[in-house]
Amino acid sequence: MDLRTALKIGIAQLRNANVSSHTLAAELLLLHASDRTRTSLYAHPEDQLSEAESQEYFSLIERRASGVPVQHLTGKREFWGLEFEVTPDVLIPRPETEHVIEVALDRLALRDRRGKKTQNMSGEGLLIADIGTGSGCIAIALAKELPAAHIYALDISPAAIEVAQRNASKLGFASCIKVLESNLLSALSEPSPLPLDLVVSNPPYVGRREAPTLPREVRDHEPAIALFGGEEGYEVYSDLVLQSAIHLQPGGVLVLELGHSSLPAVRPLLDSPAWANVGVTNDLAGIPRVIAAERV
Ligand SMILES: C[S@@+](CC[C@H](N)C(=O)[O-])C[C@H]1O[C@@H](n2cnc3c(N)ncnc32)[C@H](O)[C@@H]1O
Repeated sequence: MDLRTALKIGIAQLRNANVSSHTLAAELLLLHASDRTRTSLYAHPEDQLSEAESQEYFSLIERRASGVPVQHLTGKREFWGLEFEVTPDVLIPRPETEHVIEVALDRLALRDRRGKKTQNMSGEGLLIADIGTGSGCIAIALAKELPAAHIYALDISPAAIEVAQRNASKLGFASCIKVLESNLLSALSEPSPLPLDLVVSNPPYVGRREAPTLPREVRDHEPAIALFGGEEGYEVYSDLVLQSAIHLQPGGVLVLELGHSSLPAVRPLLDSPAWANVGVTNDLAGIPRVIAAERV
């Protein structure tokens, strides 16, 4: 069978199974099964799939039709221009999480400008923690932008820690990122709290009561510990903010991703005199997605 025909059949099968973004999904699975690039697929759609490639492709289509996310079938996901390994043990990095990186970099640059320091483009001397690192995507994207910073990538899940460590090594950032198993910032608390310049986190923020409304790809295939923050969803933020206040140096920056309805619960946590310059950034859909603040 040629590539064009295989793609058409795959798209039709996914459409019939009500899979969202069925065209893109079939294309990604065909590229994966045939080990081709998008350019070569569209330049030579008449190329024949081998028997083995065809079997692999249609078995992937069947699994996608049954609800398995594309990224679990291909084992990868692009984030911040880098290709991350993903497994069922970690959250699949979402495009909106790139706002966390943008806000963190803006806030650090603003801090330098206000302190009339020359901009610290390489992150020299900065101590950074990414809480709930999952695949390591936030920590590694920050390491790409701030190659001289010391970054701690923390997660409570030992299985996620292994994926994050592999991504840091494969992408060439193992020397600037320390991946540690940790409940929030506990691993950086002894003998005394490590004085951090930046804390970033995309914590679990979905409410357990919302579980029935989640798409089945998410509910049945992504780890519960990465999704659910408690019955309501915003429960993790209060400890996250309290521990960050203890660890951040004066002028240190906190940047947190928000769930679609987290803002009313999270904003008041930053009303204490410990915090200043609180700001909220909307994502492209206009949803308040990132909250940032500075330790006084
Ligand atoms: C929403 S996922 C974010 C993963 C990744 N940072 C991203 O943006 O794609 C939340 C992560 O927090 C971790 N986590 C949940 N509770 C935690 C806790 N108390 N301390 C540290 N990590 C935790 C989960 O294992 C999961 O990897």
